[in-house]
Amino acid sequence: MYDRLFAHWALPVVGEPLDLAELFGSDVDVVLDIGYGGGEGLIELAETQPHQSVIGVEVHTPGVAKVLEAVERNGWQHVRVVDGDVLELLPRIPVASLAGVRLYFPDPWLKNKQRHRRLARADVVSSLVDRLRIGGTLHVATDIPEYAAQTLDVCGAEPRLRGGVVPRPSWRPVTRFELRGLAAGREPTDMLYERVS
Ligand SMILES: C[S@@+](CC[C@H](N)C(=O)[O-])C[C@H]1O[C@@H](n2cnc3c(N)ncnc32)[C@H](O)[C@@H]1O
Repeated sequence: MYDRLFAHWALPVVGEPLDLAELFGSDVDVVLDIGYGGGEGLIELAETQPHQSVIGVEVHTPGVAKVLEAVERNGWQHVRVVDGDVLELLPRIPVASLAGVRLYFPDPWLKNKQRHRRLARADVVSSLVDRLRIGGTLHVATDIPEYAAQTLDVCGAEPRLRGGVVPRPSWRPVTRFELRGLAAGREPTDMLYERVS
């Protein structure tokens, strides 16, 4: 069952550049959801925002089956998943092609020697912005204040982006990662940027 769903609905992490119009149809907004975790947020947004197509990429696979089952059950043509590292996937995504990038509760890598792994670093943000079309958005949410500060620094220094902290959008699903942080007294910070040039 899993293998059949995976073969039908998943995209290989490496390969030729993706033809997003062929995958989802022309003139469709495509959003990249990086690190969708258990998949509940991706599934909820696929239900509530069906006009947006989504490519979800996740390096660990516990949520993959859940998303694949939802895609099959609902007959969704607007969701595809990638089982792998977003940094390996990015070369497959054409420049200036995405309407949005979601980076919700990225792994914080709190230890000094792990910090270079954070996704909100200048080289990764630059590569993500390359793939946003003008007017496309980068939305980062984190409940780690130091991660929010790094995101504000990095995105503030990226000349093609405009934006900053926004109120928590009511449409962003509450996932168990966010709930775990709230239970520990951590409030999320949402940061929303638009590619302006
Ligand atoms: C803390 S969880 C957040 C999950 C989800 N976004 C949410 O808000 O509930 C971070 C997720 O990012 C994934 N991740 C970390 N680095 C990644 C990478 N380089 N490429 C794809 N996924 C990654 C992790 O496996 C993990 O599931």
